[in-house]
Amino acid sequence: MMKILVTGASGNVGSYVVNELIALNENVVAAGTNVSKLKDKFGDKIEPVYFDFTKPETFDEALKGVDRVFLMRPPHLGKPEDLYPFIDAVKKHEVKLLSFLSLMGVENNPIPPHHKIENYIEKSGIPFAHIRPGFFMQNISGVHSVEIVKLDQIFVPAGKSKTSFIDAADIGLAIATVLHDAKAHKNSTFTITGPEALTYDQVAEVLTKVTGRKITYARPSYLKYRNYYLKNRKLDKNYVNVTVALYFMTRMGTAKAVTDEFYLLTGKRPRTFEAFAREHKEIFIKN
Ligand SMILES: NC(=O)c1ccc[n+]([C@@H]2O[C@H](COP(=O)([O-])OP(=O)(O)OC[C@H]3O[C@@H](n4cnc5c(N)ncnc54)[C@H](OP(=O)(O)O)[C@@H]3O)[C@@H](O)[C@H]2O)c1
Repeated sequence: MMKILVTGASGNVGSYVVNELIALNENVVAAGTNVSKLKDKFGDKIEPVYFDFTKPETFDEALKGVDRVFLMRPPHLGKPEDLYPFIDAVKKHEVKLLSFLSLMGVENNPIPPHHKIENYIEKSGIPFAHIRPGFFMQNISGVHSVEIVKLDQIFVPAGKSKTSFIDAADIGLAIATVLHDAKAHKNSTFTITGPEALTYDQVAEVLTKVTGRKITYARPSYLKYRNYYLKNRKLDKNYVNVTVALYFMTRMGTAKAVTDEFYLLTGKRPRTFEAFAREHKEIFIKN
C-alpha cells in the first residue's frame, strides 16, 4: 500500500492530519526536522522521517513509496520561494494529490506567501487540493495564551474585526478526507471556517465564562503588538511580520466569512469556540 507524507507532522494541523489518516487506515510517513519529537508523539503508528524544506537532500527519502502529500508552510519560512524546491521534487516524483494548507481569501490577496505557493503548485501540474482555513482557534490556546494566563488579556492588533475561527482538529479532518479519496478531490479548493465569526471582545467573553476569571481584549496597535512580540516574546521576525500583515487583512474584513464547505466535505459540523475553550480549559487557567 502506498504511503501519505505529512509535513509539519508535529504541528497544530499536521498532528491532526496524522491521527485522522491513521483512523482511516492509511500508512503515514510523518516528516519534520525533529524525528524524536515525532516518535514521542505518535509511537509506532507512523514512520518518522527526517525532513527539512531547506535541505533538498532530505526530499528523496521522505517521498519514498509515497503517492499523496500534505504540504504546510512552517510559519518562519516567510518567502514562498522557500517551498519551491520541495514542490519541484513532488512534481518529479508524481503523486496522486498534493494537499496544501493555505489560508482563507488568498485567491484574491497576493500578500500572504500562500498566494504564490498555490499558483506555483497549480502551474506545476501536480493534482492539488488547497485547503484554505480561517484563523485557528489554536492561536488563542497557543501563542496568545501567554498573555491570557499572565495578564488576563488577549493581545492581538485586530481592532473590532470579526474572525470565523476554526479548530485545527477540524482542519486535520478536512485534509485527511481529501487525501483519503484523492481521485474525487483532484484540483479542488476548499474554504473552511468555524460555525460563527467572533470579535476578540466576544472571544474574551467566552474565555471569561469558561475560566470564571475576567479576561479582556487589549486591542493593541500594530506597532505595540510588533514591538511586544519581537522584544518581550522574542519571536521570529519573519513570523511576526507575516502576522502583522494578516491582522491588517483581518481588519479589512478578510477573516470573517463563514462557509459551509467543511460540512459539505466531511458531513460534520465544525466546532464552536466555546466547545473548544471548554475542551482546552486547563490551558487558560492560572497555575
Ligand atoms: N494560525 C492560523 O490562524 C493560520 C490560519 C490559516 C493558515 N495558517 C497557516 O498554517 C501554517 C502553519 O501550520 P501549523 O500551525 O500547523 O504549524 P506549526 O504548529 O507552527 O508547526 C510547524 C511545523 O513545521 C515543522 N518545521 C519547522 N521548520 C521546518 C523545516 N525547516 N522543514 C520542515 N519542517 C519544519 C515543525 O516540525 P519540526 O519542529 O519537527 O521540524 C512543525 O511541525 C502556516 O503556513 C500558516 O500561515 C495558519
